[in-house]
Amino acid sequence: MSNNSLSITDNRTGKSYELPIENGTIKALDLRKIKASDDDFGLMTYDPAFTNTASCKSRITFIDGDKGVLNYRGYPIEELAQHSNYLETAYLLLNGELPTKGQYDAWSDDIIHHTIIHENVKNLLVAFRYDAHPMGMLMSMVSALSTYYPEAKHIQDPGNRRKQIVRLIAKMPTLAAFAHRHTVGMPFAYPDNDFGYCGNFLQMMFKMTEVKFKVNPVLERALEILFILHADHEQNCSTSAMRGVGSSESDPYSSTGAAIAALYGPLHGGANEQVLRMLQEIGSKEKVPAFIKEVKESGGDVRLMGFGHRVYKNYDPRAKYIKQCADQVFEVTGRNPLLDIALELERIALQDEYFVKRKLYPNVDFYSGLIYQAMGFPVDMFPVLFAIPRTVGWLAQWEEMLQDKEQKIARPRQIFLGHERRGYVPIGARS
Ligand code: CMC
Repeated sequence: MSNNSLSITDNRTGKSYELPIENGTIKALDLRKIKASDDDFGLMTYDPAFTNTASCKSRITFIDGDKGVLNYRGYPIEELAQHSNYLETAYLLLNGELPTKGQYDAWSDDIIHHTIIHENVKNLLVAFRYDAHPMGMLMSMVSALSTYYPEAKHIQDPGNRRKQIVRLIAKMPTLAAFAHRHTVGMPFAYPDNDFGYCGNFLQMMFKMTEVKFKVNPVLERALEILFILHADHEQNCSTSAMRGVGSSESDPYSSTGAAIAALYGPLHGGANEQVLRMLQEIGSKEKVPAFIKEVKESGGDVRLMGFGHRVYKNYDPRAKYIKQCADQVFEVTGRNPLLDIALELERIALQDEYFVKRKLYPNVDFYSGLIYQAMGFPVDMFPVLFAIPRTVGWLAQWEEMLQDKEQKIARPRQIFLGHERRGYVPIGARS
């Protein structure tokens, strides 16, 4: 019997089985041979929300949730945040290695030359109401891009795939900024090739009547860091949506639209918006203990937004870095008055038995919104600010999935607990 195996005895039949263990997992399909009788379907696992199921093999992002470690392609997130920029990190995520100078120049040039969106897309945008949520607009516009680039369907062609990847990464800030300007009734500010990726996004967001927008270098650098920290996070809800939808061989615009939909939810990328609304609702530092009490007594109905994580059972390393970065931003913008409430929430929660016992720590969304708000972004843009940088993570994971020979169309099983077969009853005969 191999040491790298699991022995199972089925007490229904008394039969024993030996299943190989590979990378700390057993194959769920190996359980299928465990049957109570010859016509039995075979054993399955039951894992709602995939809390203990690996859905893929990946070489992109590593998380150790107990130690609070996050690496992209082996590089610690803190080192990338300190030394890299978003486009270089995006290249790393997609290609597996940091680019040489020549590769970086060609890559950023390619991105810069794909930032413009088809003029007709603006007509889609103006069809939305003035108060439409920018995440809803972004989701719709990204999905609509599949009709502008019908060749994107040819997902098995690596060159074609790369073209769509460049387009998506390049156009996302333009679509996001245009959605914002629609809600505030301002003329669209077009991309300007003189700026870097984040600087260009800032000018498209905030340019007024000046001929040339001046980007504050501290705020531009802060945005680069925030984008690096949000670029990928292995098999989270939106990435699983991207992989799941992409596994049916949808084009990348449709799959990214689905990923944006998953990110929009308040338990995922919508949490940064909810944190801000929660802080505004609490209103003052003095009211924090009462709010914490409400959370604890609600039986899970009221949550401390920006706290807790499926994988991290320690301080989220992204939150740690963002907290440090906040001081530099506040030196330029002035201190966000909501910071005091956030700090008090964190102070009380980290010593409260309820949060300690459940290993609930601040996550990436707890402090990011305070920075975004200080920079002048409206609160409903926060999830959009998550979607822009996460696009590269979705696309890197999507490409990895397409090239993985072990992957197929995603299709989970179910435990059926409904009625057995029964006959149709005419409406007049029903009680
Ligand atoms: N406030 C209060 N209680 C919480 C919180 C919270 N933020 N998060 C979890 N709990 C409690 C939960 O009620 C449960 O308690 P009990 O054991 O008594 O039933 C326990 O902790 C475990 O929670 P869970 O819901 O089973 O944990 P999960 O792994 O399914 O959920 C989570 C993870 C992130 C959805 C959850 O922690 C949460 O809702 N947090 C608030 C929303 C949030 O900040 N989301 C952003 C996540 S990080 C960015 C991203 O990747 O999207």
